[in-house]
Amino acid sequence: MAVSMRTLSKPRWLMFGMVVAVACALMASRAECEDGLAPGFKLKSQKIELPVEKQTFGTGPEADAANAHCLTCHSRGMIDTQPPMPLAVWKAEINKMRSAFGCSAPEELVDSLSKFFEHLNNQPATRQEARAAHR
Ligand code: HEC
Repeated sequence: MAVSMRTLSKPRWLMFGMVVAVACALMASRAECEDGLAPGFKLKSQKIELPVEKQTFGTGPEADAANAHCLTCHSRGMIDTQPPMPLAVWKAEINKMRSAFGCSAPEELVDSLSKFFEHLNNQPATRQEARAAHR
């Protein structure tokens, strides 16, 4: 591309210079990346193993709903490790999951899910097992 200096007005000429400068800087940083990083700095791939959460709420109509709607974002442990809570608090909790976080449980399931969790949450064994598992 032939760009005549005479055809460029001063601001255009400045802009052209800036584009060239940025292009040079980009090319230089790219070369640096390809060559490696600063001396003594090495990137190494890491391998991490995340725990696979397999625990569900079992089977049955409410358990199926809980499995479908409550395990998409967090594990059962998040629920089991709660202190004993009354029904109204579970209702509020489930509604919070729906409104604040986008939980897919439809409104008509809120009552049955609240009862399900209130019952589960008030079984001492559930909390003891949960605490032991998440210690
Ligand atoms: C769309 C994602 C999502 C879904 C689905 C979801 N939750 Fe949660 N839940 C969260 C997040 C995020 C937190 C952590 C909130 C915090 O730390 O403040 C949380 C935390 C909780 C807690 C701990 C107490 C609290 O309020 O922080 C309980 C209990 C809970 N969820 C129950 C449920 C139940 C029951 C369901 C199913 C009806 C459910 N969650 C579905 C996102 C979700």
